[in-house]
Amino acid sequence: MITVVIGGGTMGAGIAHLLLAGGHEVVLAESGAERVTAARAAVEASLAKAAARNRLDRSPEDLLKALTVVEQLADVPAELVVEAVPEDVELKRRVLATAANACPDAVLASNTSSLSITELARGLPGERVLGLHFFNPVPVQQLVELVHHDGLAPEVAAKARGWVEDLGKTVIEVRDAPGFATSRLGVAVGMEAIRMLEDGVASAEDIDTGMRLGYGWPMGPLRLTDLVGLDVRLAIAEHLAAELGPRFAPPELLRDKVARGELGRKTGRGFFTW
Ligand code: CAA
Repeated sequence: MITVVIGGGTMGAGIAHLLLAGGHEVVLAESGAERVTAARAAVEASLAKAAARNRLDRSPEDLLKALTVVEQLADVPAELVVEAVPEDVELKRRVLATAANACPDAVLASNTSSLSITELARGLPGERVLGLHFFNPVPVQQLVELVHHDGLAPEVAAKARGWVEDLGKTVIEVRDAPGFATSRLGVAVGMEAIRMLEDGVASAEDIDTGMRLGYGWPMGPLRLTDLVGLDVRLAIAEHLAAELGPRFAPPELLRDKVARGELGRKTGRGFFTW
């Protein structure tokens, strides 16, 4: 089947990798020649890592034959579109509207980690709009949240669930509520860890080691915030604070670090130095 992925950043490239490995033909859309080149390179790098771990049935070169990276989305007979552009409601709405025209029969999925699917679906054919929330790193993380809004057709949800399961992922179904099931809990722990650091309860290293060895997390909440991006987590926390109340209000330390450009792994510094 043909699947369109919009946005070639960390998540979009990971989703493209997953789809290629699952036998989809993938059209990956990015804006601007430089980003198109970077998006292809990101998919290639991700496939190379998987190949180095013997996690692919076919060679990256073979899988990449089914990848087209485009600057502009023209008519594509895709069955599924997954948008993975930055967490900005208006941008996502624009991108989904373009996809609804270019791919008139496709199921339209957003990879948003917290924005309202109801709001994203407004003005679109809502019966075929849903959330498919993947996790970073996409080829490795087992979960996908399938997010329902009131207008979603049950047969579309069932079809999307089947596609995701065919990719080897486990699906949980979640009502359209702020932060869904996972971002809400993940951000709650992440914000509390930052407040504990502010309060001098323990060092960043020891807070993380506590959750790794005491609770079996693969990495601690502060290192995870570095991986996700402090700016990304700040935006989600602000959204959750507005929707769910001040218990999600981002700590000052997080705001300060973002203002200083310490965004985590991608800038070389966050709660840790990378
Ligand atoms: N395909 C592609 N890349 C792969 C891969 C595969 N099959 N298997 C591993 N890799 C990558 C890893 O991502 C990692 O990449 P970097 O070199 O860029 O760090 C690298 O190969 C090393 O992998 P290892 O398995 O050797 O390393 P590890 O054992 O330290 O595991 C990890 C790394 C998978 C990231 C692990 O620490 C982990 O699971 N951490 C928790 C991640 C997590 O919680 N993710 C959710 C984030 S929240 C989110 O995504 C939601 C949101 O909306 C914000």
